[in-house]
Amino acid sequence: MKLLFTMFFGLGSISAHAQYNNMWIPDTLSGTNFNLTIKDTFAQIVNKGQQTITGGINGKFWGPTLFVKKGDEVHMNVTNKLNDSTTIHWHGMHLPAVMDGGPHQIIPPNTTWKPYWKVTNDAATYWYHPHLHEMTMDQITKGIGGLLIVRDSIESTLALPRKYGVDDIPLVLTDRDFSTSNQMTPVPYGDSMLTNMTLRAQYNVPAQVIRFRILNAAIERSFNLGFSDGRKFYVIASDGGLLNAPVSVTKYLLHAGERIEILVNCTGQAGTTLDLKAYNSLLGGAIPGGESFPNGPFANFLGHKDFNVLHINIGSQSANPITSIPASLTTLNLLNTANATITRKLTISDSTGVTNPTILGPNAFIINHKLFKMDFNEYNVHLGNTEIWEITSTSGFGHPFHIHDVEFNIISVNGAAPAAAQAGWKDVVFIPGRMGGPGGGGTSNVVKFIARFDDYADPLHPFMYHCHISLHEDEGMMGQFVVTESTGSNKNKTGNIPLTVYPNPANNKIYVAFKDKSLSAYYIIITDMLGRTKLMLPKPNLHDGIDIGHLSKGIYHITIIENKTKQSITKNFAVE
Ligand code: C2O
Ligand code: CU
Ligand code: CU
Repeated sequence: MKLLFTMFFGLGSISAHAQYNNMWIPDTLSGTNFNLTIKDTFAQIVNKGQQTITGGINGKFWGPTLFVKKGDEVHMNVTNKLNDSTTIHWHGMHLPAVMDGGPHQIIPPNTTWKPYWKVTNDAATYWYHPHLHEMTMDQITKGIGGLLIVRDSIESTLALPRKYGVDDIPLVLTDRDFSTSNQMTPVPYGDSMLTNMTLRAQYNVPAQVIRFRILNAAIERSFNLGFSDGRKFYVIASDGGLLNAPVSVTKYLLHAGERIEILVNCTGQAGTTLDLKAYNSLLGGAIPGGESFPNGPFANFLGHKDFNVLHINIGSQSANPITSIPASLTTLNLLNTANATITRKLTISDSTGVTNPTILGPNAFIINHKLFKMDFNEYNVHLGNTEIWEITSTSGFGHPFHIHDVEFNIISVNGAAPAAAQAGWKDVVFIPGRMGGPGGGGTSNVVKFIARFDDYADPLHPFMYHCHISLHEDEGMMGQFVVTESTGSNKNKTGNIPLTVYPNPANNKIYVAFKDKSLSAYYIIITDMLGRTKLMLPKPNLHDGIDIGHLSKGIYHITIIENKTKQSITKNFAVE
């Protein structure tokens, strides 16, 4: 079970120079139409022995980096070829809840889900990952996920490194446990560090300014990042966009779900090496990865230790290098607390006394004194609201709190303004715990942020907020809210709105036409006669028709939920 543990020590004693593997860089896709196929597959992650059973998107492990442009309407064709249901959530994206890919937008096996939205997020590094309730940790462990990079007109005019894989390098940080047969087991903390799914990663960079886009994709662990020579580096972007100016730091503590973009100046250093490390020995017991459990379910080789994230070999300079750190980046227009109309008070606590027999028991952590329930909306957020969310935690442990739909600004952590590198747009904020910091202690810890909920009202589909430690999320540390325009019905009812589905029989495309031309489709689901879902189409454009070329011969049900009335109409059609 702890093979890597012994391998790690074995290598250490054989040679002072660890045996590095060249870091894998995810492929890229760009444009406005993206085909993503999620499947069970294999990858040679461990150098010797069997391949590891993994889950991948279009490839062997993890998925392609998607480049999108602010202002474009992007269309995703997500096909689930796993043997299980899944979902794909676009973490950090501002989009309609029905496109969000949270636990409600389940994609059954052999089904294609086609969400689309207009990109309104600012240039930054986002990501996509499964979000199936109680299965998120398992499916993320398999390696399902990918980066989503937004470009916009402000970022693209700055003198920043932008050559993907050359001087603009994605770093997806996680850790895994491998069995003696090289298989991954879903555990909160693994014994082995994986950087872009590579063990003991090394990478060659040119001698100039390098931009790293760093995602913490771990199940639980935080990474206290810094360089082996103690050099300064410059944070240029937080989760949801650029900062006003690069922020010089020597360490940055990155929690699960969070992203930062940093610049590191390697100009004039050709021929030298450098290590990006996690200085987790400096972390206290309330920080995920700061604890050292000698045994039990949380025991792991990396806990409360310093370890390598990436070995960097600096080579010769590339053409047109960036060689200096820009003085300024953008002008942030942050939300003003004077405009907030409501303060929501949330609590985080250890679940002593709360048990739910279907999931883990008394050791779970909870929000607002209750476990997550799929059919319970905690909040009804009125469209247009600017809100302060005030989270008071009495938990011993710290938790990275994430909210869907919006990017927010941190107002304060225990009364103090956020550090400069966190004073921009965020979608994850760390709520410190009582058991040791940095940032924690006391009897409770309070974090406030401000967000605006300015479109996408939908009483039917909720957005999530949760702890981004997948284990905690799966155990019920999650809640949901809807954004609504007015108080409407939350259920769709069977209706009899006149519409036609044609041609019938069909072979390549079918069309849905409402008799009343002012009506439109909110959702269309096509299922076969055995009730298996084949196609899920949130807010489809009816003029284009629905592609059914891939459906085999037979009779299908088509369920159309009308947009205004939310009435649902089911018809049959044949494919020949
Ligand atoms: Cu990245 Cu709801 O999560
Ligand atoms: Cu999210
Ligand atoms: Cu948590």
